[in-house]
Amino acid sequence: MSNTQTIPYKIYLPEDKLPKAYYNVRADMKVKPAPMLNPGTLQPMTAEELEPVFCKELVKQELDNDTRDIPIPTEIRDFYKMYRPSPLVRAYCLEEALGTPAHIYYKFEGNNTSGSHKLNSAIAQAYYAKNQGLKGVTTETGAGQWGTALSMACGYLGLECKVFMVRVSYEQKPDRREVMRTYGASVTPSPSDTTNVGRQILADHPDGKNGSLGTAISEAVEVAVGTEGYRYVLGSVLNQVLLHQSIIGLEAKSALDMYDVKADILIGCTGGGSNLGGLISPFMGEKLRGEADYDIIGVEPASCPSFTRGKYVYDFCDTGHVTPLAKMYTIGNEFIPSPNHAGGLRFHGMSPILSELYHQGYMRAVAVDQVEVFKAATTFARTEGILPAPESSHAICQAIKEAEKCKETGEAKNIVFGLSGTGYFDLSAYRQFNDGTMTDDIPTDEQIAASLAKLPKV
Ligand SMILES: Cc1ncc(COP(=O)(O)O)c(C=O)c1O
Repeated sequence: MSNTQTIPYKIYLPEDKLPKAYYNVRADMKVKPAPMLNPGTLQPMTAEELEPVFCKELVKQELDNDTRDIPIPTEIRDFYKMYRPSPLVRAYCLEEALGTPAHIYYKFEGNNTSGSHKLNSAIAQAYYAKNQGLKGVTTETGAGQWGTALSMACGYLGLECKVFMVRVSYEQKPDRREVMRTYGASVTPSPSDTTNVGRQILADHPDGKNGSLGTAISEAVEVAVGTEGYRYVLGSVLNQVLLHQSIIGLEAKSALDMYDVKADILIGCTGGGSNLGGLISPFMGEKLRGEADYDIIGVEPASCPSFTRGKYVYDFCDTGHVTPLAKMYTIGNEFIPSPNHAGGLRFHGMSPILSELYHQGYMRAVAVDQVEVFKAATTFARTEGILPAPESSHAICQAIKEAEKCKETGEAKNIVFGLSGTGYFDLSAYRQFNDGTMTDDIPTDEQIAASLAKLPKV
């Protein structure tokens, strides 16, 4: 690293620059995301219908397409101060290793014990549940980051927390489960025989024992609805989650503005869309208002390609069909990605907000396979020092590709990507990669068509 830089390696905003309001990108969308539908009546879900499942305030946020700035309560801001503002890092060492004229920045969200951006929404959702006088919440978790974040938030606020963890992750990541238990959560592998929907799914899909996020969601919703004083919370996909995650983009934008840097390309991995949605929100707002232009890229795994090979239609968010219908890019709620895929990007659908923006051409998406993702993760770990989460490494992979394009064209583009978390609980996947035994199971057209054939008729 040369020492003539004017931009520091890490840009830290002072604590008083922690955003005071979330930014609701829907307020600037001319065509709003399609409303969730009641699967029985096919009419838009009302607040009254949603409130038995979700906390009141979160229902309000979910349905609010118009308020641009939504104040962050002091209690949530105080919790954020334990790990935010998070740094925006100029990846000088990676740039040098790649020999690219591009300037690469990453917003690092892994600097809290849960290890990812998920805590930004977990504390907000737990706070609103506590404020409503609830006893506890249920949720699903795939790779475990969301469940860990929610356990941490609930532990802090003294709220009960029941987590349904996709069975393959429960078995592959026993330490992750222990972290959740230490914060006071109960953790049940899904599919389980503790719920009607779990028993039904086990009976109908004897080959589906590994579980999926869609199945774990069904189980968590059933328990929330059937337990006094409980509500269900979700770590991605929903409008409210993207709203909470807008704190990532607001901070990133302030940090870039501090040094007069204008991003050219913004990149994030996409599971249900929350970290990318959060990172791009204020930039997308400028794009929607015609004030600036950005090349915005969602990166998904080739093994679960909802944006790049899915359809933009109404689908259930879960496998057991207990949730409302959401209009989104989906490869079908019965699609169960290969257990061979390491990351938490296994959801069959995509955030309705991002789906609408993608549909209108405000962003693009690419799919990458996991061997190239782990190559990128290794390059990043060896240059920038941080061991990245496999999910975040999808974004790294694309950022490296864009930086390599700049090397060919000689352009010094500003590339900003979301480093959504760290990979310390993903070492079995790193082991496979290091042993040379990692493969990728990319679904065939026939598999995707078979899953799409079972979409609900709307
Ligand atoms: C570190 C990390 N990044 C990204 C994701 C993907 O979720 P989302 O698309 O909601 O950001 C996950 C999900 O588990 C995650 O753990």
